[in-house]
Amino acid sequence: MRSSVLLISLALLLSSCNQNMQPGNGELLSDSKPPAKASNPRPLASEDGEMKIPPFVKAYFMHQFVEALYSTPKNFNPNPDWSSPLKDPENGRVWCTDCHVSGQVDFAKIPKRKMPMNEDLEKNKGFMADLMKKWVARLNSDDFGAKGKLKQPVTCLTCHATNPAP
Ligand code: HEC
Ligand code: HEC
Repeated sequence: MRSSVLLISLALLLSSCNQNMQPGNGELLSDSKPPAKASNPRPLASEDGEMKIPPFVKAYFMHQFVEALYSTPKNFNPNPDWSSPLKDPENGRVWCTDCHVSGQVDFAKIPKRKMPMNEDLEKNKGFMADLMKKWVARLNSDDFGAKGKLKQPVTCLTCHATNPAP
C-alpha cells in the first residue's frame, strides 16, 4: 500500500516535471527573442544596450568621459569654450571608483581600449545620449563621490557645442 502511494506520487512528480520542462524551455527561448523590445522602444533600448554591449565597450566610453572632465572633450562637436568643471583638474580628478563603489570589480583597472563596436556606437546618438544621461546624473548626484570634485554642476553643454540629444 505504502509503496504504491509512493509510486503514484513519484509518477505525478515526474509528469509534472515533464510538463514544466517543456513550456519552461519554450518560455525561455521566446523571452530572449526581440518582440518584447519592439513593444516599448525607448526604455528597452537602454536595457537592450545593457544586455548586449560588453562591459569593455562601455569602459572605453567611460574613459573618454572621465578625460573630458580635465582635458578637451573628444566628441564630434565639442564645446569651443570648454573649461574643466573640476575644482582641481590636476590633483582632484573624478575617477572610476567615485561612481563604481561595489568593490566586486575593480573598475579602475579596466583599460581603455577602442573596439570596432565603439566606432559603431559613437555614431548611435540614441545609445550615446542614454549612456551619458545616466553618467551625468551620477556625476551630479549627492550619493556618489564625484560631485564633491566639481566646481559647478555638469550638463551636456559642458562638453558639447550644441544639445547632443537626438
Ligand atoms: C560619474 C560616474 C561614473 C564614472 C566616473 C565612471 N562610471 Fe562607469 N558607469 C557609470 C554608470 C551610471 C554606468 C551605467 C551605464 C549603463 O550601463 O547604461 C556605468 C557603466 C560602466 C560599465 C558597464 C558595466 C556593465 O555592467 O556593463 C563599465 C565597464 C564602466 N562603467 C567602467 C568605468 C571605468 C573604467 C571608469 C573610469 C575610467 C568609469 N566607469 C567611470 C558611471 C560612471
Ligand atoms: C564631461 C564631458 C561630457 C558631458 C558632460 C557629456 N558628454 Fe556626450 N560625449 C563626450 C565625449 C568625450 C564623447 C565622445 C565619446 C566617444 O565617441 O568616444 C561624447 C559623445 C556623445 C554623443 C555621440 C556623438 C558625439 O558627439 O560624439 C552623444 C549623442 C552624446 N555625447 C550625448 C550627450 C548628452 C545627451 C549629454 C548630457 C546628458 C552629454 N553627452 C554630456 C563628453 C561629454
